[in-house]
Formats: sequence, C-alpha cells, structure tokens
Amino acid sequence: MSQNPANFLRSQDVNDEHLFQLCKQSVALNDYPYAHDCKNNVLIYNASSLADHMQTERINVLSELHRAISDNGPGVIVIKGAYSDPALLSRFNKLFESILIQEREQKTGGDHFATAGANGRIWNALQKVALQAPADFIEYYKNPALGWVADAWLGPYWQMTSQVNVVHPGANAQHPHRDYHLGFQSNAICESYPLSIHKLSSALTLQGAVAHTDMPLASGPTKLLPFSHQYDLGYLAWRDPDVVKLFEQEYVQLALQQGDLLFFNPALIHAAGSNQTADLHRTANLLQISSSFSKPMESINREAMCQTLYGTLCHKWQTGQLDEEALKAVVACTADGYSFPTNLDLDPPYNEAAPQTQQQHLLLAIQQNTPAIEFFAILESLRSKRLA
Ligand SMILES: [Fe+2]
Repeated sequence: MSQNPANFLRSQDVNDEHLFQLCKQSVALNDYPYAHDCKNNVLIYNASSLADHMQTERINVLSELHRAISDNGPGVIVIKGAYSDPALLSRFNKLFESILIQEREQKTGGDHFATAGANGRIWNALQKVALQAPADFIEYYKNPALGWVADAWLGPYWQMTSQVNVVHPGANAQHPHRDYHLGFQSNAICESYPLSIHKLSSALTLQGAVAHTDMPLASGPTKLLPFSHQYDLGYLAWRDPDVVKLFEQEYVQLALQQGDLLFFNPALIHAAGSNQTADLHRTANLLQISSSFSKPMESINREAMCQTLYGTLCHKWQTGQLDEEALKAVVACTADGYSFPTNLDLDPPYNEAAPQTQQQHLLLAIQQNTPAIEFFAILESLRSKRLA
C-alpha cells in the first residue's frame, strides 16, 4: 500500500523563507473590534471592557479571541489590568519566595530549562498554593479573566496548571522554542508524528502568564515571534540555526504591568528575555491550560485541592464573598471537569451521556452546604469508581 510521504515531514524540509514570509504579516486592528490596541502585532485587550462584553456578547468575544490565537491571527494577546489588587499579588510573591527557599533546602524542584540558579522555578504551583494558602488561592483563581481565553481556545472543562518563574537580575535569555506537547519532543520524535498531529498539538494547550511584577523591557519580558505558530513545520524548525537567527532579528517584546495577562498559541516561537535590571526579580505565574481531551504536562492532586479549599469555599459562598461567576471560575481551576477516563461498569452516565464530574460534585456540595465529611466521601467514591 502506498503512503503519502508529505504527511511525515523531516527537519531538512524546513524552509526558513516560508516562516519569514508568514512573520511579515501585520495585524489590522479593525479586524478585532473588541481589542483596545495593537502593538508590535500583539493584540491588547482591556480586562474591564472585555468583562462587560462577555456579559452581553459572549460568543462574539470568544470567537474573536479564538481567531487571534488561531492560524488566522497573530497568535498572541495581552489582557491589561486583569488583577487590580497589588496586595494579593505581593502576598503570592511572598509565598512563592518561601516555597522556593523550602524547595532549595530540601533539594527538590529547580528549573530544568535554564542555567542552575538563574531562575526560581516552582512546578505545580497551582496545587502548592491551594494547599498552603487556600483563601488567597480562591481570591486569585476566582478571576473569570483567566478562563476567557481558555474557553475561547479549548472549549469547556479545560485543565489549569501553573508553573512560577522568577527571573533574577543578570539571567540570560532562553533559547527560542515552541511549547508542550511537541515542543517538548526531539526532532526525531516530531518526525515520527504525522503533520495532522503537529497541527493538533497546538490546539490542545494554551500558554498564559500573569505578570506578578511590572516587566519593563530591561527586565526581559517574553520575546515573541507573532505569526510563527502558522508555520506547519514549526516543531521541526525552532532548533534550526537560520530560524534562531530569524527569531533574533524579528522578535518583539512588550512591557507588561503587574496584573496584566499574556496568552499565546503554544506553537508560537518565543523565549524568556534576559533580565538586565540591577534589582528587579521578574516574576510570572505561567499558566499552562490543557484541553479536556489532552494529557496535561503535570499531574495534580485535585482531590487534595478540593478537600483543602472546601471549607473556605463554603464559607465565602454562604457569606456572599463569592458570586456565582466567581465560584464557577475558582471551581474550574480546582477540580477535574471531565467525565473521562472512567470505569463505565461502575460510573454510569448521569445525565445524557457523561458521568458526573468532580467539578459538578464540588459545585453542588458548596451550593447545598453539604457537610465536609460527606463531600470527602463523595470524592473518594468518585475516585474509586473511576479505577479499572
Ligand atoms: Fe516556553
């Protein structure tokens, strides 16, 4: 049986001229009616006006955000002013510092993707913050802005993960790269996947970042190559010396302010910049958000998170400190939102075709004020029903 060899591409098929042509495009701001501005081909949105539009024109907003991240757009956006309480972010920064010290003392953690000591890296910061500072976790993740672009790019039931990166003064820039999934594989492995999976890889995750400090250009905010995600062979291209040269000539950088959000297509070629300040420890909470259909990069103990957060969530809900939108936002970042994989012998469909999810149980338990002991038993039975 004959095969179409064009479905399996090799590193030597990379054509940097093709990539260059794609990156010469420019964004027409008029094509993005909800955007507030466009700088260096990065679309800029304003969090408060997006929030208003999400109330009345949700599908149109989601559609525009999707287009911006997709092959029809530049692949990168900024949402300005998503966090307006500097005290919350500075409490988070203190917690990050103490986790980093703790992990250094215990000789765990560390950044596998940078020179030792140049960066402070916290893997699975999502779970660590939930377990160590539940009230602040709720305050932070109740922000619906975190979910807008995820809803737009991945649809519902996405899986939030977070990895903190503190880039110290003097730290060098990263090598340009693409991100998870295929961005974490060698060229040889990428060559063994058909082109359709290369395209799919970028549809399965969304890269985001919350600026926890101001990020002036001198501090090295992420270097971005708008439109580079549109290049089909990009997962085989980013190590190519000509592509690295092109990246260094053409990348753009945007100064961010504390509380801004950056989101980009994981196939966009990018790199953390070098921090040339004397004293600014550039701090970002990196959000890697996975489609419900995908294997996320990190394993998360969501049951432990649900248990730890449950009492505070119930209290905040009952005392009116969380409205329904905020409650749903924080539940989406906490519990598993998808029904599968499960054991269909033990866990039959609940409504229509899908068994009940951890998110549905958590939301219902909070709204019904279920005693913690009963809710924990529900979580445990959900886990055992899913085992084969
Ligand atoms: Fe990256």
